[in-house]
Amino acid sequence: MRKPIIAGNWKMYKDLTEAVDFVQKLLPLVSDVSDRTILICPPSPFLKDTADEACGSNIMVGAQNLYWEDEGAFTGEISAPMLKSVGCTYAIIGHSERRQYFCETDETVNKKLHAAIKHNLNAIVCVGETLEQREKGETFKVIEKQIKVGLDKLEIDHWSLVIIAYEPVWAIGTGRTATPEQAQEVHAFIRGLLPKNVAGEIRILYGGSVKPENVKELMAKPDIDGGLVGGASLKPDSFAKIIKY
Ligand code: 13P
Repeated sequence: MRKPIIAGNWKMYKDLTEAVDFVQKLLPLVSDVSDRTILICPPSPFLKDTADEACGSNIMVGAQNLYWEDEGAFTGEISAPMLKSVGCTYAIIGHSERRQYFCETDETVNKKLHAAIKHNLNAIVCVGETLEQREKGETFKVIEKQIKVGLDKLEIDHWSLVIIAYEPVWAIGTGRTATPEQAQEVHAFIRGLLPKNVAGEIRILYGGSVKPENVKELMAKPDIDGGLVGGASLKPDSFAKIIKY
């Protein structure tokens, strides 16, 4: 059985006080949840404070990005060992906003994935097609390349740290969710691309306008193992409702 993951990607929102306040409010709302993994991914300046606040609880803390070198003259970047040292256990890699605005490619995604694995960080690798690609009938071709190149050169024991998030770009922040059928179709396709001996174990999350109102029907699909939630993860109440779908 794959344990579901409900992850909140806060993107570039909140200040330190709001971030810590969020964790304090979320903790009692989800303290009884044990059958799914709860993850928040705050902006990097708040990782340590939120991780300290959540320490010992069922709320995990992850980064929204990382760099592939361990250290060096890379102004502005943050490495996997740094993330580990402040209490992070997860990292999102290759979000479509990173690909769109910060020139990330499947090749850099792969380097970041290997850096995360080397330091025992759980990696959430994001894939997804744009509206234009979907309308041209290229969805499966695009996803296949993102998976094949982004997840290249993994050894069998690396896969336990790999999580995939399917986030159709046209559904992110638009209020336009993929239908459960559309999402399931791509999730099943992704699972079919994974090595046979691990495919059944890998969690594939859906992201793109997940809300308390639509999470249940998405999670009812056999290949949807969780959600990567943006806007609706910013308020403890709505995020708790999604967690308790
Ligand atoms: P929204 O839930 O705001 O559409 O964002 C999805 C997302 O990009 C999560 O990583």
